[in-house]
Amino acid sequence: MRHFDAPELLRSFFRRSFLLTLCFAVLLAVSLPLLRNVHAIAEYKQDSLGIAHKFLARELNFDLREMLSQRNGPLIERINVFMEYSNLVEFRIWDRSSTVVYSFANPELIGKRFPDDHELQEAMGTGTPSTKIDKAEKLENQSLRGHGVLLEMYVPVLSNGRIVGAVELYRKVPPLGILSPQNLIYALAALMLPLLLHVFFYGQFKLASLRLVHSGVQLQQAYNSLITTSLDSIRSLVKALETRDTGTQEHSEHVVALAVLLGQKLALEPKDMARLVIGAYLHDVGKIGVPDAILLKPGPLTTQERTIMETHVTKGRDIVQGVEFLCLGQDVVQYHHERWDGTGYAQGLAGEAIPLTARIFALVDVFDALMSKRPYKEPFSFKESWDIIRQGSGSHFDPRVAEAFLALDKQEIKDLRSEVQRQGIHDLVRQVTGAIFDSPIKDSCKLTDL
Ligand SMILES: [Fe+2]
Repeated sequence: MRHFDAPELLRSFFRRSFLLTLCFAVLLAVSLPLLRNVHAIAEYKQDSLGIAHKFLARELNFDLREMLSQRNGPLIERINVFMEYSNLVEFRIWDRSSTVVYSFANPELIGKRFPDDHELQEAMGTGTPSTKIDKAEKLENQSLRGHGVLLEMYVPVLSNGRIVGAVELYRKVPPLGILSPQNLIYALAALMLPLLLHVFFYGQFKLASLRLVHSGVQLQQAYNSLITTSLDSIRSLVKALETRDTGTQEHSEHVVALAVLLGQKLALEPKDMARLVIGAYLHDVGKIGVPDAILLKPGPLTTQERTIMETHVTKGRDIVQGVEFLCLGQDVVQYHHERWDGTGYAQGLAGEAIPLTARIFALVDVFDALMSKRPYKEPFSFKESWDIIRQGSGSHFDPRVAEAFLALDKQEIKDLRSEVQRQGIHDLVRQVTGAIFDSPIKDSCKLTDL
């Protein structure tokens, strides 16, 4: 029985899916704290801008230069307080011409113009504030470098609806804390949750799979039982016909066993072996339509009687074709009296135009007929039968099939016939039928293309 190894398949699935889930969990565990930090930075930026806007809206709503004309005036005091409470390290005010009019951290910059400051120009040009994480890399920010990572903000200053300048702020960024306890808890949860879900769903999947496999096994057993019953029915039918024809019940088992042996020597595909076995059993089923007066006539047949006798192949074909399972034997039933040289019947096919299964069976059928007693003849000896087969190679029989037959061990053939007489069926036939009908044969009834 060729079924897949379900436990091994499940183990393989578990290994692969677990590895995939683990990769996903690790990715999630790493990315979650990072995403939380990205979110925290965005919130910090938003919060900083909010603070700056509030302060600027309250304090810088008139002429900047005039406001700053007195160095220790009230505005400067308020800026100092604002910086202290807001964790700022620089508060720089620019006028519309990109000139520094105030700098808390670097007063030497006051009066200097920086027309190439891109962020400044953009803030004053668009009226939109900008933020970015900065390490005080600009030359004019050298004095800020000791404060670590800073948040740089450019906020345009409006007066009567006009942009009159901008404020540049630098605020300390608190430590990101990627390895904070909260982040570690999130990472652990992100790692464990997919793995726990995997284990749970794998359990469900395994249960469903095993039920499916069990159903498959039951189905296979039912199929095997059906095949066994069908084969037994065929054998009974054929034995009944043989009793009427030859008075014995051994011809069909002899030819089936010998055909299997020869088919194995010729390395037949399982599908062809199935066709050969069923065809060998049913090859003369069409004789049911031949009158007893002809079928059982002890002497030679007249031409007309012979013509009627030869119709047994087409009658047999009509019986088996289109019938599930029986139709497997159609090639053998229809063509087992064709000859390699084209002088056979019913169609006069020659050479490889005759299906291989029919060519194999033609030889086996003749050999067994020679070795058997019939109403019109005594059995030939083994040697006489053997010699007739050899002489028929290339004329009656396919030379390749004849060569394979003549290469068989003579004693093996004799033993094979003895075993059939002793047991009724050869073990070889039991083994082969058990193997070839292990699973449904697809397109089994399509005749070989002629
Ligand atoms: Fe026949």
